[in-house]
Amino acid sequence: MCTASNGSERVSGTALKPLKLEPVDRLRLTVLVDNYGDVFMPSQKPAVRSHLLSPAPDPVMVGGTTLVPLVAEHGFSALIEVESGKKRRRLLFDTGVSPRGLVHNLNLLDIDPREIDAIVLSHGHFDHTGGIVGLVERYGSCNLPLLVHPHAFRNRRLQTGHGVIDLPTPSRRYFEQSGFEVSENSSPSFILDSSVLVTGEIERTTNFETGFAGQEAEIGGSWLPDPLVLDDQALVIAVKNVGLAVVTGCGHAGIINTCQYARYLTGEREIAVAAGGFHLSSVKDPVALTEVMDAFEDLDPKYLMPGHCTGLNATFAMMKRFGNRVVPSAVGTTLSLG
Ligand SMILES: [Fe+2]
Repeated sequence: MCTASNGSERVSGTALKPLKLEPVDRLRLTVLVDNYGDVFMPSQKPAVRSHLLSPAPDPVMVGGTTLVPLVAEHGFSALIEVESGKKRRRLLFDTGVSPRGLVHNLNLLDIDPREIDAIVLSHGHFDHTGGIVGLVERYGSCNLPLLVHPHAFRNRRLQTGHGVIDLPTPSRRYFEQSGFEVSENSSPSFILDSSVLVTGEIERTTNFETGFAGQEAEIGGSWLPDPLVLDDQALVIAVKNVGLAVVTGCGHAGIINTCQYARYLTGEREIAVAAGGFHLSSVKDPVALTEVMDAFEDLDPKYLMPGHCTGLNATFAMMKRFGNRVVPSAVGTTLSLG
């Protein structure tokens, strides 16, 4: 049985004045699920890489045993740990795509999910929600708050050049039957004693971040364009004397929009890190990519930690522009601030 914990405190309406986000002494972000894995990847400040291998039965090998690393898969999940004084709190941000990936990596990293205080879903796409079933099957009913934007439960499909792909829809009923305290909220809200801000719906202010082309949602019995993915929400944590950590799942709102909104909500300018999926993988236009890089230049984050759907092109462009301020994400990477 998972441990019960506190709920979230809703902050109603759009922020007219900065929200009082409680700064933390330390933040640790551990990537639990990501598209990329590399057991030889060197550690790079302020992140440490895991090189774990676990023995597993394999009849191919003499002796019947092989070594299994952390698994990478198309999806995202991160453990967020915040510390203030002697108090440490943990939340799970997204859960990856497969039923087994998240649980395998939690086991290998020796992280006990029963110590998690809450789950926040960045949005409803299956590559961020599919791993919950593994947690439930392994640990039983989870009496945990689960924060999500209401649009996450929309039926969706994707129009592609090769036809229509029906996107799996997360089931609110499954979450409730599994014991989660589902909290739907489109506005900013606090969690973990006001030390983590969940943005809710993110304001779109740039003209070059246009959402997820081709996505449609079933609304009132009709399929309508739904490219904005308004359920896309991020986490914002203020680390004392360091700045804001902005963590995205897929970044459908646009990573620049998201960082700007984090600044707007908190009134804090300094961005210590932007981490997670930046959803630039499908951007083919080099001019569009340059606009994002130029905007990063203006935001001036200390570090960038691109992962999941950021894509190789965009990650290389960032590394070229920002050098070792870019810490590419990979499963088992732990970034520490404060
Ligand atoms: Fe994604």
